[in-house]
Amino acid sequence: MAARRILTYPDTALRERAEPVTNIDGKIQEFIDDMADTMYQAPGIGLASNQVGEPCRIIVFDTSARDEPSDLVVVINPEIIEVDGVVSTEEACLSVIDYSADVKRAQRITVQGLDREGNPITLRKDGLSAIVLQHEIDHLNGLLFIDHVSKLKRELYKRRLKKTLKQRESSLQRL
Ligand code: NI
Repeated sequence: MAARRILTYPDTALRERAEPVTNIDGKIQEFIDDMADTMYQAPGIGLASNQVGEPCRIIVFDTSARDEPSDLVVVINPEIIEVDGVVSTEEACLSVIDYSADVKRAQRITVQGLDREGNPITLRKDGLSAIVLQHEIDHLNGLLFIDHVSKLKRELYKRRLKKTLKQRESSLQRL
């Protein structure tokens, strides 16, 4: 098991649509363990496979509170079956540095997919888990939460990020 490097915007790999998993073998099991390690180490509450550069449709999340036992959920090939209601929540992302914004999403969601052993599962979620599911499934489709904010806000963020990345680069050169 090993944590992997998380790709960050504007890495173009984050924009690719991930392909369905067809064979759940030992390699996939290992990769899922790596994904969980990566998420917990970050730390984050959700991660999609293409955030670590593997374009296969797998998400992991854990929305348990800090004082609760961990509750890892793995969904392979997740598909949104039903949505209901609208809610606006402040979101952030391990792949979008130094930014958060309110995003409108469905309040309740039903998702079907496979668990890590390949058994069919149906998840009916509301609250934070519903938001995380939509956010991670977006990743698998090459979408980021910044795609849901206004163009103006997104442009302001892009400009600020460019500056930040440039500063980081120049501080590296000073080593
Ligand atoms: Ni994210």
